[in-house]
Amino acid sequence: MPLYKTYQTDEFQYAFWFLNEPLEELMAISNQIAINAINHIKTEKRKKEKLASLLLLKHLSGKNNYSYLEDGCPYVGDDFHISITHSGDYVAIALSKTRIGIDIEQISNKLERTKHKFAGITELNRSAKENSLKHLALIWSSKESAYKWFGNIPFQFDTELELSDYALTSQGHLLLKAKHKQKLATFLNIQYEFFDNYIFTIARSQ
Ligand SMILES: CC(C)(COP(=O)(O)OP(=O)(O)OC[C@H]1O[C@@H](n2cnc3c(N)ncnc32)[C@H](O)[C@@H]1OP(=O)(O)O)[C@@H](O)C(=O)NCCC(=O)NCCS
Repeated sequence: MPLYKTYQTDEFQYAFWFLNEPLEELMAISNQIAINAINHIKTEKRKKEKLASLLLLKHLSGKNNYSYLEDGCPYVGDDFHISITHSGDYVAIALSKTRIGIDIEQISNKLERTKHKFAGITELNRSAKENSLKHLALIWSSKESAYKWFGNIPFQFDTELELSDYALTSQGHLLLKAKHKQKLATFLNIQYEFFDNYIFTIARSQ
């Protein structure tokens, strides 16, 4: 079952693809626009991710393709904001009336090795107790979603993006504070959900 999950509210919608089929099978259910879009892509995994994201886009909106802004942000016209993520076996896209950033992360020990680059001291202390990897996944993924929400601001992840206190549960909400140099901070609402060995986060304005 490749279309794994869909979710819809009045404000935004998202859908997941579980990439368990071979490339040929995805190509067989894709249209010519999607086939053309993967011509220049070199690796099989990236080709599959692109086809899955275009199938999801078609499923959610009827649109056939998206482009990119100069900063790398995906763009699907002025009607919706779009955000895209892929990790491990999953691809997800979200469409929203307002800005949105989404991220899927496969939870792995790599987070332990890199944690000092993306987590602040308070966040590291919080994650030092129990479920350390889950805390780190939540911190990293929330900040990646927030980065995508902003689109092109080179935040210092450990010092300029900060998660409010939260209780770690299988799904929930928290606040993320983004500190801009010489400007007022922006607060984003982060919605998160753990599933299998992954975390999924959504950043939206409050
Ligand atoms: C751009 C970035 C957020 C992508 O995240 P990722 O985990 O590598 O990959 P994901 O699969 O979650 O997301 C990829 C999608 O992000 C989207 N994307 C790329 N640049 C983007 C941007 N500036 N804004 C919003 N979305 C962007 C693209 O649509 C891409 O999918 P596509 O190429 O299939 O269209 C990431 O590479 C990045 O630059 N992060 C911020 C900088 C950083 O890592 N700082 C480290 C501090 S320790």
